[in-house]
Amino acid sequence: MYPYSHILSTNDFPDGASIHDMVVAGQKMVPYALARSAPTGFPTKKGTLLFLEPSTRTLGSFMQAMLNLMMRTHQISGAEGTSLVKKESFADTARMLADQGADVLVLRSGLEGGARWMAEVLEDYGREVTVLNGGDGRNQHPTQTMLDLLTILIKKGRLDNLHIGLVGDLANGRTAVSLIQALRHFENIRVTLVAPKGAEMLSQYKAGINVVCESESMEALKECDVIYVTRFQLERIADVALRLAVQGTYVFNKKFLDICKPDVIVMHPLPSVEEIDPDIKNDPRMVAFEQARYGIPTRMALIARALLNPFVGIGRPRHDADLLINAESIRIEDRGKPVKHFQPITTGTVIDHLPPNRAIAALHLLEQLTSIGDNHPRQLVQLVRSRKYEGLKDVMLLSGITLPDVAAATLQFIFPEITINEFPGNETQLKKRFHIPSHVFGVFRCLNSSCITNADPEAATIFRVLDRSTPGSVCRCHYCERDFPHDQLVARLCA
Ligand code: NCD
Repeated sequence: MYPYSHILSTNDFPDGASIHDMVVAGQKMVPYALARSAPTGFPTKKGTLLFLEPSTRTLGSFMQAMLNLMMRTHQISGAEGTSLVKKESFADTARMLADQGADVLVLRSGLEGGARWMAEVLEDYGREVTVLNGGDGRNQHPTQTMLDLLTILIKKGRLDNLHIGLVGDLANGRTAVSLIQALRHFENIRVTLVAPKGAEMLSQYKAGINVVCESESMEALKECDVIYVTRFQLERIADVALRLAVQGTYVFNKKFLDICKPDVIVMHPLPSVEEIDPDIKNDPRMVAFEQARYGIPTRMALIARALLNPFVGIGRPRHDADLLINAESIRIEDRGKPVKHFQPITTGTVIDHLPPNRAIAALHLLEQLTSIGDNHPRQLVQLVRSRKYEGLKDVMLLSGITLPDVAAATLQFIFPEITINEFPGNETQLKKRFHIPSHVFGVFRCLNSSCITNADPEAATIFRVLDRSTPGSVCRCHYCERDFPHDQLVARLCA
């Protein structure tokens, strides 16, 4: 079961059943949507639509869904009508809209992770406002995915055993990315991806899905049951050569459909610019307008689900408990190593085997993670010969400080070769080892310039460590959901 009130990302769903339930709830709303009415006894609530990027379908269908549900509505189209242009933050904007009475807040924005961030801000602010992601940059469009799946369910009678072709701008569009991540949960789904060079889908989105073919040619789609066409997102493609190269690449017309499977359906989230030839606009195989119509009942169902059930917030990831693996105690006099290059300390922490020239970065990091102030006594020993590894190392000595486990484990994840030694002041030395934490809080900068953490000064970064058994694991930004290699995140930290 999907427990939360908010709908933020198709990645938040634990299984196919929870997606299926929501799709079917949308199907049950179809008669109400056609009659433009609400199920009896629906409470009077307020919906706020904050659309900072252009929209015809998503905005219009959310609005109509709210009107059908007899809701009061507040619509904002474009940042220029808001104090965001005066540099008010997303967080403060969310607080204001909640205080003006929003029960449901639908956000469309170019900032990736913006909806998740607003949901968290409002939960911290003590407001039970359901946030629905109406599209966040290149990242997610989960309510579009629900109506896409409803279309497939109605037209094909199933969400399993399908060969689905995704075609067009798979690098910059969010609809295909959102859909493929939901499709992971269904049985026997085969996917064919068709995109020109430079517009291919990021490999992280293909994980867990059976991609049977990747091609630049539309011919690869001939065996598909469903062809999901997308527009080139020219507003997000900065490279002029690529913009010129992709225009007119894929045009679906009758001639092409006639060589596809006889029962193929062609879907498109719309708007379509040139991808759908006018000669198939009324062809029964081209279902994009029917698909768009399912936006209203789908969104009625998502809103009704949130308003008819007790509010369940999504929260933020939390610090792990029990990060310490062990603390091996050694008597100092038995260490047998002469001390060179620094003044030994009696109580405090020594971080040894830092990579060369990394002591300053490590210190800055600890200043962020702990209460160590910039006037705390420290010794940074740089570029000394390492006995353990070939080459040079840095060492950091902090008197009178015991690092909290979270800070120590985070430092050890960032610099896996370090050893952390604590001196409790009783002639012993504790060599501490830590588990890789599940998340890294407030340290890495997100390398995606469109991530909300690079736009809202209040938004601290959170990265999920994807493989906690591998030092140097890839990390996923909690907000924009992009994966980054460990070395790129660390390089930015040390730059
Ligand atoms: C899409 C979007 O905004 O991501 N439109 C929509 O919501 N139906 C697709 C697009 O703009 O190409």
